[in-house]
Amino acid sequence: METVLEVAGLYKSFSLPGSRRKVQAVNGVSFTLKRGETLALVGESGSGKTTVGRCVLGLEEPTRGRVLFRGEELSRRNNVRRPHLRGRIQLVFQEPAESLDPRMRIGASIEEPLKALGMPASERAGRVEAVIRRVNLPAAVLDHYRTSLSAGQQQRVGIARAIVTDPAVVVLDEPTSALDPTARAEIIDLLLEIQKATDTSYLLISHDLSAVHYISHRIAVMYLGMIVEQGPAAEVFRRPRHPYTVGLLSSVLLPDPEIRRPTTVSLKGEIPSPIDLPKACFLAGRCPFATEICRRSMPPSEEIAPGHLVHCYHHEQVAQIDQPSDTFAEFQASAERVLGVDVLGADMDEETPRGRRRWASSTAK
Ligand SMILES: Nc1ncnc2c1ncn2[C@@H]1O[C@H](COP(=O)(O)OP(=O)(O)OP(=O)(O)O)[C@@H](O)[C@H]1O
Ligand SMILES: [Mg+2]
Repeated sequence: METVLEVAGLYKSFSLPGSRRKVQAVNGVSFTLKRGETLALVGESGSGKTTVGRCVLGLEEPTRGRVLFRGEELSRRNNVRRPHLRGRIQLVFQEPAESLDPRMRIGASIEEPLKALGMPASERAGRVEAVIRRVNLPAAVLDHYRTSLSAGQQQRVGIARAIVTDPAVVVLDEPTSALDPTARAEIIDLLLEIQKATDTSYLLISHDLSAVHYISHRIAVMYLGMIVEQGPAAEVFRRPRHPYTVGLLSSVLLPDPEIRRPTTVSLKGEIPSPIDLPKACFLAGRCPFATEICRRSMPPSEEIAPGHLVHCYHHEQVAQIDQPSDTFAEFQASAERVLGVDVLGADMDEETPRGRRRWASSTAK
């Protein structure tokens, strides 16, 4: 499979106004994205996910490292605004309202990126009509304004606007978090449908780990600007090898935020400030597995299975606490044993992240 996007050794820091210190938002991120593949970037708020996405889109200049689109390095000068790259990497926003001008008709909003490409008007109309059908909206919507549409319909339009240029890569930054459960499920199915028909690659940034589990081929777990673990999604969900991943995945199984407390206790202690990052493992101060070496030096990235990378000196020990299992229920029971916490049940039963069952029909009862 062709690699469409490669991010290599990416660092991004931001200067603090009136200070010589910097926020180290991204600290050595590397990954690849193949054609037709979905890579999910997950991690707590502030872990650097959006900053990675913005570097990929050329909206931020990396402090160090490279972003390659089909082997061509992107930079401040050679970015998605250059004619040959325009429309090739697109973004879907969390809030569809952000990408849609309230004074513009939907048809004109979707047409805009095609105008920017210099496509003749005669071709544009056909493209816009085809794309509105692709996102399962009636053509009549093209004459409406954003404000007359529901949040779910607006997100469909946001997706239409992103895919109308036939991009190779779409960065989806929390595409479902502003939606109600039914609209969320429909958008997830729509994204899968589009990918199946067009082989578009997705970089999916999301807190919604059950959606990530459902639609991603691979998953990269970020903590303080580093990818601490990445690998095939099914494998990482079934058998996480980094203590942070174990904590993150088990906390998401708790349906009630009030009951998340026990899991956060297992990763106790302060999150280091992104301004003063230690030279050692960033998790050492919070990790139940930490030993002297973790407090002294940063663990290297180790490939523990094909395409499964983990930054932890004690990944073998972590593996022992979690027997391979195919379902969330089994994973959850194992996480309970390991972490000594009371994790409540979540009724997830997909066998694979790309299960045949449609999400909407299985959840919107
Ligand atoms: N323009 C900026 N100037 C200064 N600091 C920034 C800037 N953009 C991001 N940061 C900081 O960089 C870190 C990573 O932020 P980022 O928005 O990438 O995180 P995130 O993982 O997307 O979080 P969330 O899940 O809340 O969206 C945070 O500490 C944030 O405060
Ligand atoms: Mg973000």
